Amino acid sequence: MALCLQVAKKDAQTALAALRESGAFCGQHEVWREDAFVYLPIRASKKEWAAKLGFGPVVKKTLQAARKRPKSLRDGLKGVLSQAELESMLSSFDVLGDIAMLEIPGPLVAKQSMIAQVVMRLYPHVKTVVKKTEGTGGPYRIRPVEVVAGEKKTKTISKENGCLLAVDLNKAYYNPRMASERMRVAAQIKKGENILVLFAGVGPYAVAAEKKTAANAKPERIVAIELNPDAAALMRENVRLNKCRKIEVIEGDVAGILADAGRHGSRFHSFADRIIMPHPTEALRFLPLALKAAKAGAIIHLYAFGRAGRAVEDVWGEAQRIAAKEGYSLILRTGRVVQTYSPQMEQVVLDLEVRPLA
Ligand SMILES: C[S@@+](CC[C@H](N)C(=O)[O-])C[C@H]1O[C@@H](n2cnc3c(N)ncnc32)[C@H](O)[C@@H]1O
Repeated sequence: MALCLQVAKKDAQTALAALRESGAFCGQHEVWREDAFVYLPIRASKKEWAAKLGFGPVVKKTLQAARKRPKSLRDGLKGVLSQAELESMLSSFDVLGDIAMLEIPGPLVAKQSMIAQVVMRLYPHVKTVVKKTEGTGGPYRIRPVEVVAGEKKTKTISKENGCLLAVDLNKAYYNPRMASERMRVAAQIKKGENILVLFAGVGPYAVAAEKKTAANAKPERIVAIELNPDAAALMRENVRLNKCRKIEVIEGDVAGILADAGRHGSRFHSFADRIIMPHPTEALRFLPLALKAAKAGAIIHLYAFGRAGRAVEDVWGEAQRIAAKEGYSLILRTGRVVQTYSPQMEQVVLDLEVRPLA
């Protein structure tokens, strides 16, 4: 039997807060709801004090022992999900700021509230749990989500490599799993570079390019181009949040903004020492424009999809073909897989050095 304060339902939140604040709440038992009352477990030493609060009498009641907080999501969902369900859930799980995001396949929808509760117990700072409702799609590459528990919001501030990034999952693309790739790119930046970030999204590459370079390797200018007005607005917010001074955000279509990059004297003609192209379904198509905006010797970080097991070779072959047609040769500095999307498809990054053909 546990000692508890019996309070009317309408007073439960206030009474619980008072007990917690004074250290009278006993965390060894679960709170119990029965009929019109809520039973709040209290410490024996606070019995008289609690009775004088005026919420109700102190009584003895059989209460469940408090459930232990799970140590991991795997631990928390053991027994709730099958092994296969658990694995697919864990592979899709991300926490961005105070939002936890996961995929809940159709057969698990009935268990989604329970799953969300486990997530919130495990990560007390998480205020909202969302599930992905569709794949990434549309011109802005958004992957829509739906709130399954907690505050009804999709905007948060994600922390990535020590930088703050305002993101809104239903308004702009953002993938926290590319954080280490952004650090890899930033580490290559040299002092005084002009950098073009095409398809810049909410600005994770642009912010990293200013904030996460090696010491004494600050770029001169960073121009970040983004089509989606919501993403561009979030990128401006991220420029402010991180006190960036080198980033110029341009809202618009890369096709239009770089259209005259091939013309001597135009703003972006041979402008960039480094071009980042993080749009795996479109980067190859925009490579001719990027080449015209690149200085001789510039590095292009090109992201693209290819067949699993052959993706680097496929993309490298295609990039060389496009470059030759435009009057350039490329040197492959690095090519590696950054993400596996399916058994058939991988995303790769190629670091390409640009050489105009004589
Ligand atoms: C895959 S997302 C990458 C976003 C960001 N670089 C990141 O890694 O989080 C591609 C981005 O390119 C933008 N985009 C698509 N077509 C574009 C175009 N023609 N010009 C400029 N931005 C474009 C989309 O709105 C989207 O934000």
